[in-house]
Amino acid sequence: MVIHKVKTYRNMSKKAANIITAQVITNPASVLGLATGSTPVGTYELLAEYCENGDVDFTNVKTVNLDEYYGLDANDEQSYRYFMNKHLFEKINIDIRNTHVPNGRADNIDEECRRYEQLISSLGGIDLQLLGIGHNGHIGFNEPGDSFPKETHCVDLGESTIKANSRFFNSIDEVPKKAITMGIGTIMKAKRIILLASGEDKKEILKKALFGPITPSVPASILQLHNNLTVITTIDL
Ligand code: GLP
Repeated sequence: MVIHKVKTYRNMSKKAANIITAQVITNPASVLGLATGSTPVGTYELLAEYCENGDVDFTNVKTVNLDEYYGLDANDEQSYRYFMNKHLFEKINIDIRNTHVPNGRADNIDEECRRYEQLISSLGGIDLQLLGIGHNGHIGFNEPGDSFPKETHCVDLGESTIKANSRFFNSIDEVPKKAITMGIGTIMKAKRIILLASGEDKKEILKKALFGPITPSVPASILQLHNNLTVITTIDL
C-alpha cells in the first residue's frame, strides 16, 4: 500500500486525475472502474479539463461503475448513471456506449447482477478502480456484514448509509433502500486501486480500514490485501 498524504481536496483530486491520465495514456483502451459520491467530483472535473486541453483521449476507454440505486431510472437526477453523465461522461470524449452502470430498473435484479459481473469479465477485468469510502467503511455499496460478498449483488442499504446519502435527496424517505453493487471480489480483482478520502469525518474509519483488523464489519479493510493499492488523502493518519 502506498499512502499519499496531501494538503487539500484539490491536491487529492489532482493526484488522482494524474494517475488516471497516466493510465489512459499508457493503455488507451483501459477499463476504468469509477465511483460516485462527493469525493471523486474534483477528480472528474480535472479529467474533463485535461481532455478539453487534449492531454488525454478517452475514445477507446471503457468504464464500469461500482454501483447503482435499485429502483431509480437512468434519467432520475439521483441515479448514479445521471451523476456520471453529468460530472464526467458528457464532458469528455468517451463513447457513451462504452460506459457501464448497473441497471437500477432491471426487471430481474439477480439476472442484472449476473449480467454486470459477466460484462466486467468480458471486458477483461478492471485496470484501475477508483474508490471512495463510506462512514461505516463501505466500498461501492458493500455494507458491513458477516462476510465479504464476492460478486455483483443486490444489497439492503444500512441505516447510516441511507442517512448519509439523504443529503442528495429532498427527504430521507426518497432514498432507495436497495442497491446493486460490485462485490468485494469484483473490486479486489482490479489490477490497481486508488482510494480517495478527505475530511476529518472520515479519519476514524480510514484508520480502521487501513491499519485495523481485516474484517467484513469494515468492508474497506480488505483493501490491505490488495497488491497495488494507492491511498490519496487529506487526512493525517
Ligand atoms: C456512496 C457510494 C460510495 C461512496 C460513498 C461515499 O455510498 N456508493 O461508492 O464511496 O457514498 O460518499 P462521499 O464521497 O460523498 O463521502
